[in-house]
Amino acid sequence: MLLRALCLLLLIVTGNCNFFRDPFPSFIKDLGFDFPLGATPSDDNTPKPKKDKPNFKGRWELFTENSGVSAMHLILLPKINKVLMFDSTIWLKSNIMLPKGEPCRMVDEGQGVIHDCYAHSVLLDIETKELVPLRLNFDTWCSSGALAIDGTLVSTGGFRNGSDTARYLSLGDNSPWREYPGTLANGRWYSTQVTLGDGRFIVFGGRDSPTYEFLPAEGQGNTQPILFPFLVETKDPDENNLYPFVYLSTDGNLFVFANNRSILLDPNTQKTVMEFPVLPGGSRCYPASASSVLLPIVIQPNQEEDKKIQAEVLVCGGAKNDAFFWADRNRPKLFNPANDDCGRIKITESKPEWKIEKMPSPRILGDAIILPTGDVLLLNGAKAGSAGWDDAREPNFTPVMYRTRASENERFRELEPSKIARMYHSTSALLPDGKVMVAGSNTNNGYLFDALFPTELRVEKFSPQYLDPTRSKERVQIVADAMTTQLKYGEKVMIQVRSPQFKLDKTKLQVTMYSPPFTTHGISMNQRLVQLGIVDVKSNVYAGIHNIVATGPPSGNIAPPGYYMLFVNFNGVPSVAVWVQIKQA
Ligand SMILES: *[C@@H]1O[C@H](CO)[C@@H](O)[C@H](O)[C@H]1NC(C)=O
Ligand SMILES: *[C@@H]1O[C@H](CO)[C@@H](O)[C@H](O)[C@H]1NC(C)=O
Repeated sequence: MLLRALCLLLLIVTGNCNFFRDPFPSFIKDLGFDFPLGATPSDDNTPKPKKDKPNFKGRWELFTENSGVSAMHLILLPKINKVLMFDSTIWLKSNIMLPKGEPCRMVDEGQGVIHDCYAHSVLLDIETKELVPLRLNFDTWCSSGALAIDGTLVSTGGFRNGSDTARYLSLGDNSPWREYPGTLANGRWYSTQVTLGDGRFIVFGGRDSPTYEFLPAEGQGNTQPILFPFLVETKDPDENNLYPFVYLSTDGNLFVFANNRSILLDPNTQKTVMEFPVLPGGSRCYPASASSVLLPIVIQPNQEEDKKIQAEVLVCGGAKNDAFFWADRNRPKLFNPANDDCGRIKITESKPEWKIEKMPSPRILGDAIILPTGDVLLLNGAKAGSAGWDDAREPNFTPVMYRTRASENERFRELEPSKIARMYHSTSALLPDGKVMVAGSNTNNGYLFDALFPTELRVEKFSPQYLDPTRSKERVQIVADAMTTQLKYGEKVMIQVRSPQFKLDKTKLQVTMYSPPFTTHGISMNQRLVQLGIVDVKSNVYAGIHNIVATGPPSGNIAPPGYYMLFVNFNGVPSVAVWVQIKQA
């Protein structure tokens, strides 16, 4: 109250309130107080009763007008804080040229050699907006990808001579793509890449490839695809089993969802361990393109065994099994309403059942992004039609928050709508500051700017409701220098945070680790949020510092080796993340 009165006085006299802009006398700073990110000190530290319905519904900002390429595939790369976006090479065109001095691609489609001097992949700096074009030779159209333990992006599959290609992009400036055609035993177009607990990759499916295979070491070829009858059985006339949803479960088995069926597959014995009930109500995989996540994996304090850690899957939206036929093949085109339901299932139970929930609006071609808090943001996409060129209508502009832990009828909350249609080939990514980057949308066979839904090169950032400016004082700041960012399985994680709060109540704190997914066509491969078990919090009030001790992932089946963004959430407001790496000791 005193500060506010003083400010009002200053405002009247001087026209501003500088007192508030730097509200801490230096003697307080000398004591070690340091308030994060524009936080103002609270007059008192008694927790205010939480409002049930926050007024702030999120905020959209235009980040850049030109992403250079249409962001069909997108992934946040660890440490360097750049987003990799790539498209396809088929159009011999994008909105950004290859770097000066880089020879053009010579393309011969049987009608003489064409020089393609455009770049089809770029790195976009998430702070400075710097855009760097990168050369790609083999077609990446509808490919798959994942991060290796050292943060290298490993992408597989694609179109034509890209379909059996493995390609690598290491972290670091000016690192070029390394491409190896002929790596995969089968060509894979619309396949899914998954990371196992030991860091190996398996690639599943793809058009006319009802198989899966382990990715060999860089530069080596694979001759052994493994026949996968499940992908034969789930293929229907519209091929609604492409880009299957595949998740590593906490017991080391793979959950594979295709069309409307799902199984648990042991990747080592290659046996089907279990079949789940059919998820009724339509098809969920490409081109019926629902969105799906493996829900947050929760580690208890001092948990040592993997076995008791549950895993749950959520599948939202999608379409009728013949939606693609009506929108793509039939004339006139007919755009069926998309599904407005979600199915949620506990995949580690012995007799699991799908629980059906209704979303506030139907959605196809959307993304499901797990937020640092464990809630799921459903955004992008359309309300009618199918995946495919010009096959969808009625953009769904309104993001929906799925509150994972809320009681069953309280889970969905609509947030601030966007103004940009994000249809087929749109993507998004969670950023270290808790915002979500949104890019892409191209429903056209080429770069077309005068179509019903033009090729979209604008990139936005969405601030979810937890970035409500009035809650900034709840935002803690991780002291990166005071923690080891190299984690080992089965070891405690020590984190130091700064906060203006008097005390950080253990029950209001969460420590979470998020692995950046490879996002394309509404599927986010290897997206995973692991919540650590908080053992202890010790606050040094005078220094404004709080030391958190947490139980980390016991094994790679809980958190596959590699880079994660580590967040500390207080009262549901996430910190800015720190990159950590976990691997075998
Ligand atoms: C890939 O195939 C296209 C034809 O589809 C051809 O023009 C191109 O040269 C090939 N790329 C390489 C690197 O061989
Ligand atoms: C599952 O999908 C198949 C193929 O589209 C369809 O024939 C079948 O009726 C669906 N089953 C249910 C229970 O919806």
